Amino acid sequence: MSLHRSRFGSDTDDLMLRYCSSLAVDLQMLDQDIRGSMAHVRMLGEVAILTDAEVSALSGGLARVREEINEGTFRPGDEHEDIHMAIEARLTELLGELGGKLHTARSRNDQVATDVRLWLKAAIEQLDMAISEVIQALLDRVTREGKTLIPGYTHLQRGQPILLGHHLLAHAWALSRDRARLADAAGRIDSCPLGACAMAGTAFPIDRHRTAELLEFAAPIDNAMDAVAARDHEQEMASVCAISMTHLSRMAEELVIWSCSEFALVHIDDAYCTGSSIMPQKRNPDAAELVRGKTARVCGDLVTLLALVKAQPLAYNRDLQEDREALFDALGVTIDSHRIMAAMWRTLEIDTDRFENDLRGDFSLATELADHLASRGVPFREAHEIVGRIVKWCEQQGSDLSALTTDKATEFHPALADNLEGLLDPRAAAERRTSFGGTAWSEIERQAKTLRASLGDPPTDMPRSGA
Ligand code: ARG
Repeated sequence: MSLHRSRFGSDTDDLMLRYCSSLAVDLQMLDQDIRGSMAHVRMLGEVAILTDAEVSALSGGLARVREEINEGTFRPGDEHEDIHMAIEARLTELLGELGGKLHTARSRNDQVATDVRLWLKAAIEQLDMAISEVIQALLDRVTREGKTLIPGYTHLQRGQPILLGHHLLAHAWALSRDRARLADAAGRIDSCPLGACAMAGTAFPIDRHRTAELLEFAAPIDNAMDAVAARDHEQEMASVCAISMTHLSRMAEELVIWSCSEFALVHIDDAYCTGSSIMPQKRNPDAAELVRGKTARVCGDLVTLLALVKAQPLAYNRDLQEDREALFDALGVTIDSHRIMAAMWRTLEIDTDRFENDLRGDFSLATELADHLASRGVPFREAHEIVGRIVKWCEQQGSDLSALTTDKATEFHPALADNLEGLLDPRAAAERRTSFGGTAWSEIERQAKTLRASLGDPPTDMPRSGA
């Protein structure tokens, strides 16, 4: 019979054992669970609930159980229900009655809450590094190819000529806000539930501040009931992941579009493409497509965590055990997706000539003509109307803005005769946009410098663009 069934008449049904077990996902928290127990035992010793000899025997026993699980000489099974019971059961086999003292002044409710927070603290560091990797890769491309002229799109229709660096930094800023969100969420995760026990605290003279300190948490959680019931930090983490995945997904979508034969602006490295089992010529951008696909999965993880908690009365309910599959999945997928995206950006071939040539023969400079008229005192609405008529005329000629001669332009408005050639130069048009955050190279350099500096800093010092 299991460790906590003395009040029952019979053993648990086999299906029930499998149905209730969280071991498969719990094994990912083995280290955290042992660490938590070691800190708890040490604190119990310091407040004289355990003797020094008991503390050292229990700590040694815990280290041994960890080793046995890692080496596979002790295999927790569904009969143990979860990682906490498995460890205690093995400890009791090793140490006899003393193993039973481990659970003094704690419960699995505060234990699991502590394990997950410890797990998240490590995952946050990895995610922050992975996001930073993508930002770094983007910044490197800005240095290398950032001056390339490209069409800036709205509605996936050509809008205005911009520099590639402007476009890449827009993605980088979004990711830098993900880092800021992550740092913010990290602050709320950094509190220790251990010692909250089932939800009421304990009559034992424990020192929760000491436990928190031993586990490198900023502080113990104030309310014991909140400590075991709260899962908003998990929802918040999944939300950070889901938002960041949507950023990656937009990038991935652009890589898919830019790499197809119709655009052929970039070439994704072979390492991140796959072939077709039937069409020998295919090079499919699977990594980018999977980033898009996995975004759906992470959004689903967030919804799982929101729905899981919404109707639960305080404090702990067994439903909460369902949190980890979604939470760990969200973090794992998001970290991997950033890593693969960083690798794709690092190895991407960018056809800068094709980007620039692509700009010839379109109407991307229409706004430039309208702005020019407006700067000569024509109200912008009227300037817009005049240039609209020019576009129509060019289209009727079966051409683009290059059909416009100075004489013809003068017919639409005399002020257009003034430097028409300069107005129709896309690089000059981009470089004129020196307003704060504009596409001019000087502005790109300014932003790149800020972002580059932020990468070396702890996430709390993140610059906040548009925040
Ligand atoms: N396996 C449980 C979970 O993951 C641990 C807490 C169990 N507590 C309880 N009172 N049944 O949430």
